[in-house]
Amino acid sequence: MTVIEARDVAVHYGGIKAVDGVDLALEPGRICGLLGPNGSGKSTLLAALTRLVPLTRGTLLLDGAEYQNAAPASLARRGVARTFQTVRLLPDLTVAENVRLGADLRRRAPAGVVDDAIERTGLGDVVRARPGELSYGMSRRVEIARALATSPRLLLLDEPTAGMNQAERQEISELLRRLRDEGLTQLLVEHDVQLMIDTCDDLVAMNFGAVVAHGSPAEVVTDPDVQRAYLGKKWRAHA
Ligand SMILES: Nc1ncnc2c1ncn2[C@@H]1O[C@H](COP(=O)(O)OP(=O)(O)OP(=O)(O)O)[C@@H](O)[C@H]1O
Ligand SMILES: [Mg+2]
Repeated sequence: MTVIEARDVAVHYGGIKAVDGVDLALEPGRICGLLGPNGSGKSTLLAALTRLVPLTRGTLLLDGAEYQNAAPASLARRGVARTFQTVRLLPDLTVAENVRLGADLRRRAPAGVVDDAIERTGLGDVVRARPGELSYGMSRRVEIARALATSPRLLLLDEPTAGMNQAERQEISELLRRLRDEGLTQLLVEHDVQLMIDTCDDLVAMNFGAVVAHGSPAEVVTDPDVQRAYLGKKWRAHA
């Protein structure tokens, strides 16, 4: 059984085929990484999976049941959470209040879920700060904490470590793997190939709105199409 599945999903904006015929299946308790050059359709695929853009065609399945007509808000109640590529926090609320918004999306949020999300993302010292006072890396942690506060079983992350330094990236990678070991299924979009190899159980590579490779991290990063499309000389030098 898969947690979430896309079958022949397409999202076209006029003549732009942002996503065009993608099949994707996430297995429970695994981190699937989504790689691809700028504009290859990664964020659009996340938007399609979370019902934030209409599908041009295709089928979406959650626990095997079609949901391509579901309202986005209903997905949080069914255990699907996400973070955005650009930080979306409420500037007048404190860090703690922003995180609590996540818990409020669930009718019966478990006690302590907000404190737990804050603690796990390393935000304990800034709970009373407002987003404007935080570094970019810290504000991205608030996004992750807010998603965790919904007690998700599936978490979709769009470049969660963008703007973070190497040590912070490492911390996030460790956090995501801990969450995975506790059973949280994840779809992770990142450009940092080494981080993807270190963090993910499976990789999917996109180019021009389509999946060009999928498999183990080792298989995908050595795939000739992926190397041509995305990784190029720079990555080969590190391999
Ligand atoms: N709302 C929109 N209207 C028109 N075109 C869009 C819209 N959103 C995305 N696109 C286009 O769809 C394509 C895929 O964009 P998308 O943001 O999904 O790529 P991405 O892989 O997430 O890129 P990046 O790595 O830069 O975040 C791009 O050509 C983009 O310009
Ligand atoms: Mg994107």
